[in-house]
Amino acid sequence: MTHRALPGGRAASAPLLGHGTEPTLFELSVPGRAAFQLRTTGVPATPLSQLVPTEHLNPVVVDIAEVSERDLVAHFTRLSHRQFSVDLGMYPLGSCTMKYNPKFCDAVAADPGFNSVHPGAPAELTQGWLELLVELEQRLCAVTGMSAATLQPAAGAAGELTGLLLMRAYHTANGEARNRILIPDSAHGTNPASVTLGGYQVTTIPSNDRGLVDLEALKAALGPDVAGIMLTNPNTLGLFEEEITEMAAAVHDVGGLLYYDGANLNAILGVVRPGDMGFDIVHMNLHKTFATPHGGGGPGAGPVAVAERLVDFLPGPKAARLADGTFDWVKPARSIGRVHGWHGNAMVLARALAYINVHGGDGLTRVAQHAVLNANWLRQRLEATLPAAYDRVCMHECVLTASPLKAKYGVKGLDVAKALLEEGFHSPTVYFPLIVDEALMFEPTETESLQTLEALAAAVERIAQRAIDDPDSLHRAPQSTPVSRVDEARAARHLIPTEDAANR
Ligand SMILES: Cc1ncc(COP(=O)(O)O)c(C=O)c1O
Repeated sequence: MTHRALPGGRAASAPLLGHGTEPTLFELSVPGRAAFQLRTTGVPATPLSQLVPTEHLNPVVVDIAEVSERDLVAHFTRLSHRQFSVDLGMYPLGSCTMKYNPKFCDAVAADPGFNSVHPGAPAELTQGWLELLVELEQRLCAVTGMSAATLQPAAGAAGELTGLLLMRAYHTANGEARNRILIPDSAHGTNPASVTLGGYQVTTIPSNDRGLVDLEALKAALGPDVAGIMLTNPNTLGLFEEEITEMAAAVHDVGGLLYYDGANLNAILGVVRPGDMGFDIVHMNLHKTFATPHGGGGPGAGPVAVAERLVDFLPGPKAARLADGTFDWVKPARSIGRVHGWHGNAMVLARALAYINVHGGDGLTRVAQHAVLNANWLRQRLEATLPAAYDRVCMHECVLTASPLKAKYGVKGLDVAKALLEEGFHSPTVYFPLIVDEALMFEPTETESLQTLEALAAAVERIAQRAIDDPDSLHRAPQSTPVSRVDEARAARHLIPTEDAANR
């Protein structure tokens, strides 16, 4: 292994913010170098072969990078300076809810009283943790209008699969083998994937010209083989389904169950509840609505809450308060079993309860109100530059289209998104939902101020002006970021494993 000089001849510890190629740790490695050294004590070292029987020793010397602590920290710090993050600026990535989250939630999760507890520790030693889980379950049921919940699913999609397994258990217990799930074409992409994974068949329901589920098409698709419907609400166009109670009644009439994809609960918190709309199952993405940014802060959590008739089927064991006021693990009577190795992604659960309790009922309602207000402000402000795909009041996100820019100047949604990076904003989601041409999906989130929204709108307007003056510069954007325009298709087609220690 050789110590590779940094670009420009700088030593490994020289600052290298943003640009240039960052060497791998193996390239920075120098034989014998270590991140720390223990003081020599004079006590002779015991050879490894006397501590571990030789037959258990790995004959292959594992090739790991040898770097000093200083170089290690500098390496990761340099890499971190190349990232855009929720702590750095506005991240309006529609459908993903990359909102800024209060730091006190992290402080709670970092409390050794929580994070030093082994999930297998006996209930009598972990009463505090169990109480936290029970309280969180109650709060989530209150917010969704459901009877009980499992906190085990590790993400939204895991919650979806759990919900589908619950549907199957319910129908099987009733002696029915239903095999079809209805999914609107404006649903989140994980819904049909989960349905297939759960062993069901998907029947797609088209949207009408208002971007909502076509109720007549839905009714026509119903039958005794329908296990249920999965409804993303607000749908992926950011619109609230107006005929939801009619849909609920029609599906229940044929004996199907109603699944609410509540990943975007931040749009309706404290205003309406899936339980009151007639839904039987709802999953929430705690990592979008209640602290922990989506995908950006490590693991997520996708609890599933259910109506009374499904409570006995919930995954177990789950934390419960016993009659004597203490807490223990209990398994629901007809539980589908575990959907997670332990009890769920605990630190996300701790963050979520901290977030809910600090906001209180009124605070959570304000979260939804501000999320919806911000999205509608942006939609209206950009009306002349990027029109809305459906010109209606939206919920927490708005789907705009770059189709006029493409028609007039050959500038696509992707060009606008990339140019926004040069303006210091993360890109919105592009080309989703699939049913909108040149879609740009902005989710400003409730945490952004009017001044930030103004700045974003002004940046989009500058980009639109560039489309007129110099459209080619937009095709090359971004130019001011550590990595400029990448060939996205090539990255997926020609995978190049960069570091494979075993083969070195
Ligand atoms: C509506 C909707 N459903 C499901 C999911 C899937 O959640 P996860 O990414 O946690 O699996 C998402 C993720 O953004 C979503 O927006």
